[in-house]
Amino acid sequence: MDLVLKLKQNKDLSDEEFLHLLNTEQYDDALRIAADEVRRSVYKDEVFLRGLIEFTNYCRNNCYYCGIRGGNANVERYRLSKEEILECCKEGYSLGFRTFVLQGGEDMTYSDEEICEIVRSIKKLYPDAAVTLSIGEREYESYRKYKEAGADRYLLRHETATDSHYRKLHPSELSLEHRKNCLYNLKELGFQVGAGFMVGSPGQTMENIVADFRFLQELKPDMIGIGPFIPHKDTIFKEEPAGSLELTLRILSILRLMFPYVLLPATTALGTIAPNGRELGLKSGANVVMPNLSPKRFREQYALYDHKICTGEEAAECRKCLEVRVQAAGYRIVNDRGDVKR
Ligand code: 5AD
Ligand code: FES
Repeated sequence: MDLVLKLKQNKDLSDEEFLHLLNTEQYDDALRIAADEVRRSVYKDEVFLRGLIEFTNYCRNNCYYCGIRGGNANVERYRLSKEEILECCKEGYSLGFRTFVLQGGEDMTYSDEEICEIVRSIKKLYPDAAVTLSIGEREYESYRKYKEAGADRYLLRHETATDSHYRKLHPSELSLEHRKNCLYNLKELGFQVGAGFMVGSPGQTMENIVADFRFLQELKPDMIGIGPFIPHKDTIFKEEPAGSLELTLRILSILRLMFPYVLLPATTALGTIAPNGRELGLKSGANVVMPNLSPKRFREQYALYDHKICTGEEAAECRKCLEVRVQAAGYRIVNDRGDVKR
């Protein structure tokens, strides 16, 4: 049987079959068409928005690929106060956003109580909005408090499910085991969870990507964030090539076929390596976009990689621009929380 049809029907393939799909471009059209069929059968033409608030670029970690790693002395650091965060939410809410993603480096100067207070304030002002946290690896007890404060979702990309590859991307203080554990804890606590990885990160093999698929099958996340690796000038990977558009799109389609219900963002990184990257992502199975609601003056300081898009845009302009782009791609932005459909 045709591999794409088999994947669509079984939502799974053997390792060898996945490798074959990953290694050739011959199935790309069929993959994209099948993925779009599946996405439309579950989500119609709906695209969900997440308003991303990058509230701190301080980070205690030193992931080798990341532009805001703690050891990078060339970054001008900033933190948003609760009031500044609420200001972003206010503008976002008026633009139709019903999910706010609070993302930051692992900045321990915000206590659990402060994070909870921020979450409670947002939920009180905008009870019909979902709050997503993306603040890295924390203790079970901290996650529990965030949930109790009203946080609905948590994004924590696993980055790679293969230990040896994880070691190439991270210093020795960090471990894949701990990161996976965090994801399982978050699930157990009842968060809607997002995992994910970069495509084409240094040292990544197709076998690693198959291992990512297997890990995702085990975790069963509600969201899977994938985007191309893009080198940052202040990292040891500055001379490494960026991940490819074609492979990222191929993986998006495979993921849509494996996980028909999953929330799949067309990421900013995808829009950075190609001018129409996010549109192509939507056409390949993605159903979420995450524009920036952070204050314009800080955007450039949250550069995880070089040449990041939308660093000079007002939230309102970005919203309008996306409206047009999503429509032109054949989809429609809806202003609701955009919960996973199971
Ligand atoms: N290129 C692409 N994505 C990156 N991220 C971090 N650094 C880079 C980079 N250089 C991704 C990581 C992280 C997410 C917030 O951004 O996967 O989890
Ligand atoms: Fe930000 Fe187009 S999406 S300006």
